[in-house]
Amino acid sequence: MPDSLTFLGIESSCDDTAAAVVRLTSGRGEILSSVVEGQTALHAAFGGVVPEIAARAHAERVDLCVERALAEAGLPLAALDGIAVTAGPGLIGGVLSGVMCAKGLAAATGLPLVGVNHLAGHALTPRLTDGIDYPYLMLLVSGGHCQFLRVDGPDDFTRLGGSIDDAPGEAFDKVAKILALPQPGGPSVQAEAERGDAKRIPLPRPLLDRPGYDLSFSGLKTAVLRARDGLMAGLGGLRQQDRADLCAAFQRAVADVLVEKSRRALTDHPVRTFAVAGGVAANSEIRARLQALCAGLDTVFLAPPLRLCTDNAAMIAWAGIEQFQLRGADDMTLVARPRWPLDKRSPALIGSGKKGAKA
Ligand code: KG4
Ligand code: ZN
Repeated sequence: MPDSLTFLGIESSCDDTAAAVVRLTSGRGEILSSVVEGQTALHAAFGGVVPEIAARAHAERVDLCVERALAEAGLPLAALDGIAVTAGPGLIGGVLSGVMCAKGLAAATGLPLVGVNHLAGHALTPRLTDGIDYPYLMLLVSGGHCQFLRVDGPDDFTRLGGSIDDAPGEAFDKVAKILALPQPGGPSVQAEAERGDAKRIPLPRPLLDRPGYDLSFSGLKTAVLRARDGLMAGLGGLRQQDRADLCAAFQRAVADVLVEKSRRALTDHPVRTFAVAGGVAANSEIRARLQALCAGLDTVFLAPPLRLCTDNAAMIAWAGIEQFQLRGADDMTLVARPRWPLDKRSPALIGSGKKGAKA
């Protein structure tokens, strides 16, 4: 295997069309370009991602993103060593757009084609950004994902636990909706929470009474709805302070369960590094609490830069490189998969997030 590999990555499994060029040199990754075109505006009127609209937008934009990524990297297709593409899990129309584009490019150039699991992309990001060694623990918390992973190799993942219903970002978004705050809900709930009293309104800490690392956020969201209705019935309306207190209480409850489940996971699986990824990792209270937990356990806490925590194609190119080194390329029978559990040994999670099937 050559010492240096340069891969194009393509990502289209949800509501971001992305392409990137990543180079591995002497064991370290370098992002030569990373283009992400979000679709937020296209879905805004519908209160969630509409799969058909997403698929059409991916099909229309994916080749243009590839063109831009190559131009920004200053490389022609011929300078690449391979093409990595998200082959699942995700919204099938979008995944198909990316896989067809990658297959077309691979057929035209003869370059190796590597199908990558989207979650592997997230899970391997700390190796791209910080070059950390295996094994490590990963907490993926976004609008569509929520799982604890132990990462032992490029294709060796153990899912310790995950959400049995909503993903945490999804719960932040729904709470924002309940309280008439703007979407995406995470940043607006966080801003309100900063002015709120987290102790005034009691909310549950779901699944803390049960052993293991599974999480649940659906009941917490319903508890916020009930608390809002209770306050409105009693006061005849919701004051600004009530809304801030509800946000603070909700955010504190999410942070409490994430911290406690992380503490359990790290105690049972002592590793050098604990990494987080996903949009919810941007939450300052959650981030600070997880950082404090790691400091107490003598574990390195790692949160990749936000643009690499959220959906992007650099993580796909990187995972493609690592997996190509391990197992070689896929052939033209590569298929797009709506569901694709990262950990082949653990049973699939039953939840299904607003952004499509969870794995
Ligand atoms: O990883 P991401 O960009 O997309 C996927 O879900 O794949 O995550 C987006 C989610 C949204 O649900 C958003 O509300 C949440 O991350 N989020 C936050 C914050 N910023 C974004 N949640 C809590 N606090 C934040 N500051
Ligand atoms: Zn993702």
